[in-house]
Amino acid sequence: MKKIVIAIDGYSGTGKSSTAKQVASRLSYTYIDSGAMYRAVAWFFIQNKIDYSNNEELVKGLEQCHIEFQGKKLLLNNQPLDGELRTMEVNNHVSSVSTIEKVREKLVDQQREMGKEKGVVMDGRDIGTVVFPDAELKLFMTADMDIRAERRKKELDVKGINESLQKIKENLKERDRVDSSRKYSPLKQAEDAKEIDTSHLTLNQQIDKIVALAESII
Ligand code: C5P
Repeated sequence: MKKIVIAIDGYSGTGKSSTAKQVASRLSYTYIDSGAMYRAVAWFFIQNKIDYSNNEELVKGLEQCHIEFQGKKLLLNNQPLDGELRTMEVNNHVSSVSTIEKVREKLVDQQREMGKEKGVVMDGRDIGTVVFPDAELKLFMTADMDIRAERRKKELDVKGINESLQKIKENLKERDRVDSSRKYSPLKQAEDAKEIDTSHLTLNQQIDKIVALAESII
């Protein structure tokens, strides 16, 4: 069977990561969470009080950031990170860190390297447009804002993080705004991407749909 690249882009909170993870597992593909890489850089900058608006500090900071994946686990300078990447503090910084060209260059190079043997499912904002413009299957996920916010609230509640629906909605809207209007690699649907509105789909329905599309190609 031939191996392909599956690129999943879309707005924040539309279920890209949960879907991509399961699609990869069903196809025995590697899952790469590109958003976690941007989150890791944002987390590192916050922890180390790096003023990323200062070019020298930015370059030095980026040089000190070594990201790798061990299975699905992200390691930053050998330290496994998970919950640390999902806090509201990181949510509030990550989109502005992601507007920086040098940050994107570093991470996009690494993402292309990880996907060069194919057999990967990568989710993010620019995967079908910039990272893998030749991906064999491209999806663009959308969903109603109220539904997205409610889903995100449930996820946070399960993790014991108490955040108001209003704050969650504001953050999702602001991230969509910054991600869609930035100069470098703005979030947009690739011309050859299929749109999937997940508002009224269960997670399993989303997964089944994408696996069926993939199986029609491989
Ligand atoms: O996917 P996730 O919500 O974890 O991504 C966090 C943030 O990282 C996004 O809001 C966006 O600013 C940035 N991002 C990006 N390009 C990607 C993946 C994520 O700019 N390919």
